Amino acid sequence: MRRNRSTRWVRRMTAETKLNVNDLLWPVFVTEGENVEQPIPSMPDVYRWSIDRLVERVAHAKELGIPAIAIFPHVESDKKTPDCDEAWNPDNVVCRAVREIKRQVPDIGVICDVALDPYNALGHDGLVYDGEILNDESVDALIQQSIVQAQAGCDIIAPSDMMDGRVGAIRAALDRAGYADVKIMSYAAKYASAFYGPFRDAIGSGGALTGDKATYQMNPANTDEALREVELDLQEGADMLMVKPGMPYLDIVHRVKQAFRAPTFVYQVSGEYAMLKAAAQQGWLDNDKVALESVLAFKRAGADGVLTYLAVEVAEQLNKGWYDRP
Ligand code: PBG
Repeated sequence: MRRNRSTRWVRRMTAETKLNVNDLLWPVFVTEGENVEQPIPSMPDVYRWSIDRLVERVAHAKELGIPAIAIFPHVESDKKTPDCDEAWNPDNVVCRAVREIKRQVPDIGVICDVALDPYNALGHDGLVYDGEILNDESVDALIQQSIVQAQAGCDIIAPSDMMDGRVGAIRAALDRAGYADVKIMSYAAKYASAFYGPFRDAIGSGGALTGDKATYQMNPANTDEALREVELDLQEGADMLMVKPGMPYLDIVHRVKQAFRAPTFVYQVSGEYAMLKAAAQQGWLDNDKVALESVLAFKRAGADGVLTYLAVEVAEQLNKGWYDRP
C-alpha cells in the first residue's frame, strides 16, 4: 500500500476527494452602524461588521472564488420583541445588507437564514406563547420573513427554524409573490446541539433564551429521524439540504447523501470553530492543517459543500496550492 503514498505527486494523483474553493460557503454576522468591527470573544477572528465593512469582506470572498455567503444579524435588544416583527421589516439590517451586497458585489450568492431567534426577546426560533413554541403561527411569521428577504434580493432562503411544514408553506408563498427562482436550502436535519453556544453570543440571543430548543430541533440520539425530515423537506420543495452541526454528525451527512442524492451541505458550526481556534491559540493544534483536514472530511463523508467560518482562510490556503495537505 505504501507505493501510492511514497511522494507528494502520487498522493495527489490518487486522492479520492479533492477540495476546491467551490466547496466553501461563508457565514457572516452583520450589525448596525458604520465602520463597525466588533470581535466575538468566543469566536477568534470572527467579527460582527456593519454593512459597509461587510460589503468589503464579501468582495474579498468573491475574489477568492467563494460561491456564496450566509448572512446572520446581530439585532439590538430594543428591536427584539415577543412577536418578532423586526424579522419582516423590509428595512431590517439583513434586508439592507442584502440590497447593498447585490448592488456592489453582484456575482456572489446570498443565503439568508429564516428563523426568528435574532429578533425574539425570548431567544427562540419560533413564536412563544405560555412557554410553548407555536408551530403554525411561527410558520406564518417565517413566510413574512422569507418574502422580505426575497424582495431584498436574497438568492437562497435557508429555514433553520425546524418548525413542521415550513418548507412547503414558504415555497408556495414565494411562488405566489413572484419569486419562483428563489431557492430553498432547508436545514432539514438540525440537531438540538450544545455546539451552537458561540453563535448565540454572536447574534446576542443566548442570554435571552428561556429553556432549550429540544421541542423543535432534533434529538442527537437519532438518525432515522433525519432521513424522515429530509424526505418531507424534499417533498415540500427544498432544492438543497443542510445537516447541522458538522463534525459530530458525519454519519448523518453520509446517510442523507447516500439516501437522496440531493445537493447536501453541512454546517461546521460555531462551537466546532471555537474548539479548533482555542486549541490552535494554545499551540496544541496546527490551525491551517486542521482547518483543511476538517473541511476535507466533510467532503469525504459526502457533502457537496461546507458552510464554515473557516471558508476564507481555507480558500486562501487552496489558492496557495495547499490543496493536498496534510
Ligand atoms: C438559529 C441558528 C443557530 C445557528 C444558526 N441558526 C443556533 C440555534 O439553533 O440556536 C447556529 C450556527 C452556529 O453555531 O454556528 N436559527
